[in-house]
Amino acid sequence: MSHKNPPYSRILGTGSFLPPNRLTNADLAAQLAKDGVETSDEWIVGRTGIHARHFAAPGVTASDLALPAARAALEAAGVAASEIDLIIVATSTPDMVFPSTACLLQHKLGIAGGAAFDLQAVCSGFIYALSVADSMIKTGAATKALVIGAEVFSRILDFKDRTTCVLFGDGAGAVVLGASQTPGILATDLHADGSHAGILCVPGTVSGGLVLGSPLLTMDGQAVFKLAVGVLEKTARAVLDKAGLTDADIDWLIPHQANLRIMHSTAKKLKLPLDKLIVTVDQHGNTSAASIPLALDHAVRGGQVKPGDTVMLEGVGGGFTWGAVLLNF
Ligand code: UT7
Repeated sequence: MSHKNPPYSRILGTGSFLPPNRLTNADLAAQLAKDGVETSDEWIVGRTGIHARHFAAPGVTASDLALPAARAALEAAGVAASEIDLIIVATSTPDMVFPSTACLLQHKLGIAGGAAFDLQAVCSGFIYALSVADSMIKTGAATKALVIGAEVFSRILDFKDRTTCVLFGDGAGAVVLGASQTPGILATDLHADGSHAGILCVPGTVSGGLVLGSPLLTMDGQAVFKLAVGVLEKTARAVLDKAGLTDADIDWLIPHQANLRIMHSTAKKLKLPLDKLIVTVDQHGNTSAASIPLALDHAVRGGQVKPGDTVMLEGVGGGFTWGAVLLNF
């Protein structure tokens, strides 16, 4: 029997979830001050654009955050959980060493049988996951996928290190990606360079019943900043070239939400007015793999991103990893 694979994949619905505990910069600064760690709303806003972040309650895991995000995306797509034959969860803060957060989420959704796995590309994780799901749908390996970024970065923050702990937050974002006769995802572009592993990492590992090395995030912020600005422009240009489009075709830029200064710099290089840039870092902080699908869902529900719009998603993070997805929403 001959089987013709659908030519495209397309986002059918989006969803997201933020844990209810919201901390403003002032809240966080007051908490840190108790341990003698000095910071201020002025410094955090000035250097990053972040005003607030959400932290999950103790015991709440990445799959707990992913579940309501996934349900919201399924509802928006008009797709039943039972139709999902692929789940990819992009996360660097999985529920456990194994099984994967995706398997745990699959069970929480009350389904079984389809493929489910986690994908680890840190802050580029959602870009990688969307690209992999797109490929699997185009080859016929899957027909309807849940692609999710879910993180509880608060678990790996060193609250004695003011250079990192003020930057991150927890949350989850999800999309349902389905086979389609019309585009959809127009082009994807993925890269990595492991020689930069040391500038952003959680070096610890589990061995012999112990954690060997630090289980907390460490970052050389300036080195990450410099690399990020360069590679984000390159990957944006590469994905536009692959799709045969130009800067002027972009309706919305939804970059990884790490630092408003990096986001403004990318928009400027693409000659995009700032009102085409979706910003949620101010309210969410950096939620790593969750940041792009969270921002996408907020932009869709906020009435900014509309069906037919050309949307550029792009991310950069630990690894070093980076990449972009250009799509017709
Ligand atoms: O998600 C993956 C991608 N990650 C990123 O994209 C992060 C990229 N990097 C950045 O966003 C920025 O480098 C940071 C926001 C992390 C830091 O901004 P910066 O402008 O590079 O600041 P800096 O590291 O040069 O620090 C400037 C000063 C230092 O004091 P001195 O040495 O000038 O006296 C720091 O000690 O700011 C001080 N500082 C703080 N002060 C108050 C660092 N953190 C804080 C803080 N509160 N939280």
